[in-house]
Amino acid sequence: MKTQVCIIGGGPSGLLLSQLLHLKGIDTILLEKHSREYVLGRIRAGVLEHGFTELMREAECGDRMDAEGELHDGFEIVDNGIQHRVDLHKYTGASVMVYGQTEVTRDLYEARDRMQGKVIHNVEDVTLHNLKATTPPYVTYRDRSGAQRIDCDFVIGADGFHGPSRKAIPREVLREFEKVYPFGWLGVLSRTKPVNPELIYARNDRGFALCSMRSQVLSRYYIQVPLSDKAEDWSDAAFWAELKARLPQEVAARLEAGPSIEKSIAPLRSFVAEPMRYGNLFLAGDAAHIVPPTGARGLNSAGSDIHYLYHGLINHYLNGDDTGLEEYSAKALARVWKAQRFSWWMTSLLHSFPDTSEYDRHLQSTEMEYLFSSDAAQASLAENYVGLPF
Ligand code: FAD
Ligand code: DHB
Repeated sequence: MKTQVCIIGGGPSGLLLSQLLHLKGIDTILLEKHSREYVLGRIRAGVLEHGFTELMREAECGDRMDAEGELHDGFEIVDNGIQHRVDLHKYTGASVMVYGQTEVTRDLYEARDRMQGKVIHNVEDVTLHNLKATTPPYVTYRDRSGAQRIDCDFVIGADGFHGPSRKAIPREVLREFEKVYPFGWLGVLSRTKPVNPELIYARNDRGFALCSMRSQVLSRYYIQVPLSDKAEDWSDAAFWAELKARLPQEVAARLEAGPSIEKSIAPLRSFVAEPMRYGNLFLAGDAAHIVPPTGARGLNSAGSDIHYLYHGLINHYLNGDDTGLEEYSAKALARVWKAQRFSWWMTSLLHSFPDTSEYDRHLQSTEMEYLFSSDAAQASLAENYVGLPF
């Protein structure tokens, strides 16, 4: 087979790029390791920044998001029972959209179907070849009918943290930066009314908690847990009791508990791989960088990579101008590192760290006091949370 752009990974990054390029007449083939049902069964991000929603609209995938997603002008931070509101709109003039990654992915798959996009599921042994050669690159894989080969101009590695694309960059070229946190988030999805109209991020001596939502009838809650915990060891009753214990009493009193329809633990990790380009391979999204979920930056950072890559590729194909592709890695990484900084700051502000000193705890409290006594500090939080400009 032959295509212009071979995309590895059918998560939001790969699907969005494939859809955007298709609308500009650029041919893509997308390879995904899992079935569509499996990809759509993963419950991940829930908050979209303005830039991401604009990309969805440009990809002609914004209608359901605009009809069913909820615009939020702010969120709450609770510090050991004391509630503060962060007014995103006041400080930035912008809002965020609460619309789940599952729905984003579903809308993108449906659009790819409508346009007869080439999306191949259940591929195995994906291998990248000739990335830095003078001859064009190609990708090999196996499917039910045997070994396959795709010849292309460019390979896009949008295959998440564990995919093969980043690993195809030679060790002596790739630099990796990593910070692993000593805790994870236990997440529960339940068919219940969200406890609050806006998200609540709660700092508590028992550990961090987050009250989020997917709609007015679907709630998403998280609690910080030790890495040694297993999701199956947490009964629903134990989860609700621990969540309530970390929230202000009047919030806990109105929290509607119900059976969990999904329960999983995500470890918290920060990771950046540099460069994001190697020859004719371009990395995007989780293949190149991971953030702890606290600042809701993971999916949104994937979106900013796709923005830069999309513009680089259309300039290459439509105007014969390679500047965007040449600048891709540096531009994407500059924004990625800002998302890393913000996610690290939100994580440090809100979590209980094992083995911290009294000094560290005082600093954390002082950071919180400063935040809510300073318009400048709240403006800084708000501009990062709604998304820095591309
Ligand atoms: P992915 O969504 O990981 O997509 C990569 C795709 O590549 C997958 O479908 C995978 O199956 C496929 N793939 C992998 N290997 C191969 C292969 N060999 N061949 C072909 N295809 C392959 N972000 C937030 O902002 N908030 C959150 O609450 C949040 N929760 C998260 C929870 C978990 C458990 C995880 C892992 C991430 C979470 N994130 C969250 C981060 C966010 O979901 C990601 O940033 C986002 O999914 C990145 O999209 P992506 O398309 O780059 O990667
Ligand atoms: C969600 C996850 C986050 O990490 C976050 O900061 C906000 C919302 C969510 O899954 O709803």
